[in-house]
Amino acid sequence: MKKTISLFSLTGAAILLLAFTGRELDNALRNIIQQKGLNQHAPLPGFSAAKVELGRMLFFDKILSGNKDISCATCHHPALGSADALPLAIGVGGQGLGVERQMGKGRERIPRNSPDIFNRGAKEWHTMFWDNRVSGDIMAGYESPADEKLIDGLESILAVQAMFPVTSRDEMRGEIGDRTVKGEINELALISNAMPQVVWHRLMLRLKKIPKYIELFEAAYPGVALEDLGFQHAANAIAAFETEEFTFHDSPWDLYMDGVTNAIDESAKRGAVLFYGKANCSSCHSGNLMSDQQAHNIGVPQLGPGKGNSEPLDVGRYLETGDQADAFAFRTPSLKNTAITGPWMHNGAYNTLEDAVRHHLDPKQYLQQYDASKLPEELRATFQDNEEVKQRMLGQIDQRLKLEKPLAEQEIENILSFLYALTDQSALELEHLVPTKVPSGLPVKD
Ligand code: HEC
Ligand code: HEC
Repeated sequence: MKKTISLFSLTGAAILLLAFTGRELDNALRNIIQQKGLNQHAPLPGFSAAKVELGRMLFFDKILSGNKDISCATCHHPALGSADALPLAIGVGGQGLGVERQMGKGRERIPRNSPDIFNRGAKEWHTMFWDNRVSGDIMAGYESPADEKLIDGLESILAVQAMFPVTSRDEMRGEIGDRTVKGEINELALISNAMPQVVWHRLMLRLKKIPKYIELFEAAYPGVALEDLGFQHAANAIAAFETEEFTFHDSPWDLYMDGVTNAIDESAKRGAVLFYGKANCSSCHSGNLMSDQQAHNIGVPQLGPGKGNSEPLDVGRYLETGDQADAFAFRTPSLKNTAITGPWMHNGAYNTLEDAVRHHLDPKQYLQQYDASKLPEELRATFQDNEEVKQRMLGQIDQRLKLEKPLAEQEIENILSFLYALTDQSALELEHLVPTKVPSGLPVKD
């Protein structure tokens, strides 16, 4: 009898102790959330249902691609965390969806990983792409690869972004001499790269030949004459769809921030404290977007065809600025829903969230011992297993990765629990967005 009592009081004390540290944890977290304004979101703009519906059709319609064989959804699919589940995207000429997707004959991989598009309609975003090559806001104006050729009337940075996949030869437009899936000449591919405005104009000619699109545009833009409708109207509608259907603030972590103390478990809470404290993650993954929107070199292994003048390397932000300090720097990704958007990093170098996190803790070792055998076969040989390249990268790794004290295994586990708590249930249930048919009559399935 005596034994039972002492056992009971022991457990009681242990529970009390846990509850106490539990309360301390919650207090610490509440302070962090408040100080950093983590649960503050600027209100979203409102869109008419007609505009969102036009955007949805355009997002899934392969009519926007030169060869009529690929849509935005192929690389940003609702069933694949609004990305494509591939390390590097497969564009024009490819077939299939997700990990099944195959390259077309004679084509190359897209040099970068398809990012998710979750919460990109938030007003706080002032950059787009892994190298921030689109930036600005509606008041200050936008910087983009099209410079002064960018059409006026774009309502948000997300709309500005939507102007570009259709002009990219590898992603959607195709090469001179390509034919469409129907055997017609690909008229979009014939246009010079220096004339994106002609691509946008010709695309509108395509859309205006389809009565259903005229109907959808008229409903979305009542009062705008048909001849005044340009691709900026299409882009605004696509951005409206992306904003309306891919914005979520109901992950367990969001619920916790809204005051539901048991929405995440203790491990995730400890992970959050580490993330915003000792592990220094929030020095880059900062604010409510979990990104500072700055580019940093964290030494991610180089792989893929490479980009622009730097081929076979992809030197990231340096391609835009020419500043040595930007070499191998890529924009800090947002981490909302990150668990469902793998493979991770600007080139999908890692297949597991755990490797993506551990890379930050020891970039040198992760770069030196990178295992390319986990990549799809045709990408393995593209890994730049070159000491000079590695040394160049390691020579200027962002100093924010240096921690005063290395993290214990338990702490890494806690951080992973926290990252898993950033997944919205709704982000996993988006199949309903996929239309059964689109106005062009082209197949919706890849
Ligand atoms: C072939 C695959 C592919 C297609 C098709 C495609 N994208 Fe992308 N998308 C990508 C890749 C890859 C990137 C990153 C490129 C980079 O940063 O250099 C990207 C970037 C983006 C971004 C920027 C996200 C961010 O946080 O910076 C958005 C938004 C986006 N795409 C929307 C669209 C829309 C809308 C369409 C259709 C008009 C589209 N994409 C078509 C692969 C694709
Ligand atoms: C120096 C700034 C910086 C710090 C500090 C930092 N990150 Fe990152 N993180 C980045 C950048 C930049 C990338 C993308 C790098 C690339 O693709 O080349 C990234 C990528 C990631 C990714 C992959 C996301 C995706 O969509 O591909 C995860 C997950 C991640 N970081 C988690 C963390 C965690 C957890 C910590 C703290 C232990 C942390 N980061 C600390 C800058 C940082």
